[in-house]
Amino acid sequence: MPIHSFPTTRFTAATAPGGLPLLGHAPALLRRPFDFVAGLAAHGDLVRLRLGPLDAYVACHPELVRRLLDEDHAHDGGGPAPDSAPEAPGDGLAACPATAHRRRQRMLQPAFHRARLPGYAAMTAEEIAGTTAPWRDGDVIDVPAAMYRLTTAVTARCLFAGHDRAGALPGQASMDAIVRGAGRRVMMPLPGAGRLPTPGNRRYRRARQDLREVTGRLIADYRADGTDHHDLLSVLLGAVDEDGQGLSDAEIHDQVVTFLLAGTETTAATLSWAWTLLAANPAVRERLHAELDTVLDGRPARHDDLPALPLTARIVSETLRLYPPVWLLSRTLTADTRLGGHRVPAGATVLVSPYLLHRRADVFPCPGRFDPDRWLTTARPAAGTYAPFGLGARSCLGDTFGTTEAVLAIATIAARWTITPTPGRPVRPVRGLSLSPRPFTATLTRR
Ligand code: HEM
Repeated sequence: MPIHSFPTTRFTAATAPGGLPLLGHAPALLRRPFDFVAGLAAHGDLVRLRLGPLDAYVACHPELVRRLLDEDHAHDGGGPAPDSAPEAPGDGLAACPATAHRRRQRMLQPAFHRARLPGYAAMTAEEIAGTTAPWRDGDVIDVPAAMYRLTTAVTARCLFAGHDRAGALPGQASMDAIVRGAGRRVMMPLPGAGRLPTPGNRRYRRARQDLREVTGRLIADYRADGTDHHDLLSVLLGAVDEDGQGLSDAEIHDQVVTFLLAGTETTAATLSWAWTLLAANPAVRERLHAELDTVLDGRPARHDDLPALPLTARIVSETLRLYPPVWLLSRTLTADTRLGGHRVPAGATVLVSPYLLHRRADVFPCPGRFDPDRWLTTARPAAGTYAPFGLGARSCLGDTFGTTEAVLAIATIAARWTITPTPGRPVRPVRGLSLSPRPFTATLTRR
């Protein structure tokens, strides 16, 4: 087996302490995942974990993370548990193997070209207005559920802006079944569990079938009329590789599910954390209100407001630092590899945790403090220190889309509403497809 070598040997390696016989570190990882993972950096730059019969290696040093994710020719896969999820988002971009990934990624990048962003932002602003229109003073809302409704509406609209011509989109319940069902498959440690006849699996299959039918109708309709609807589906339909080959209908369907899966819970979790952090830091919230009162004066935020909303943008960056929705990434090594001078065998799982990286006190002083102003001085963090959108070939395609959506949503909502968490119900980080605050209900007060 060839040995792929990353140069330099100055990185330390260790096995995490406290492993139990047979189970190893799995109980600690399950019981207190965030503290456990964040604490690993104290033991070394590359830390080995025993998870039952399996070994996993956690890259804790930013430079190791950069090398691992940038030099991706020695590993494959993506997402939290790539190999256990062959049926998750079909053969969508995030799940497909490296060779297919490169071809597909080149075809999809134009979907997120800068020139398209103002168009998406205009649709995003309309969906934010529509989702929050029914809110009334004194309403108590389930914040993660409300933010998830908002981001699903935005993603569905930006995927299918021309849907009016081809009939209704699948409803919120259907979208929900797809995102949760596909998410469960990505997180599921047992291969084949997705095929069991459980109610959740049945809902997922029905919803995917609905979405396949709607997408099929839309594809036929878009192909027949041949216009660019300035949405993601139009880009998918127009995409061609170097040989002039386009994506098949089945491939387009898989990408649609990938966008829904990748773009909804992540941005919803970011927004939910932002409301928790703003409520806990009233001085920052007052400064945010001052910024919004000056710039927006009560109206919804638009794409051309973005340069005038620097504090709102810093709040999003700082929220993503403290609570990166994708808190753990995994890669499977395809060759024996030297990582920071230490041999890691082919087939091993290497884990990267943005949560761990973002809480390194040597990079972010007082790492637990919510301090959006740290981004005034940390102009551009060194590669590998800040990775809410991953790094390298498989990093997020929708990063600007997602942050723009988050800034517009925070600005538009905070300009009109104060969100006050229900007292006596402490919010905890909960591991799901994304790292989310739960339970989190709050009262809306009109400003
Ligand atoms: C705050 C919001 C978001 C966060 C924190 C986030 C985070 C991430 C991360 C960490 C990855 C890399 C996974 C890995 O390396 O294994 C990723 C991949 C991806 N994201 Fe996002 N994402 C967000 C929003 C979005 C949005 C809005 C979209 C699309 C509408 C999107 C589309 C994708 C796609 C297509 C990939 C796969 C890229 C590839 O494999 O080449 N994301 N995202």
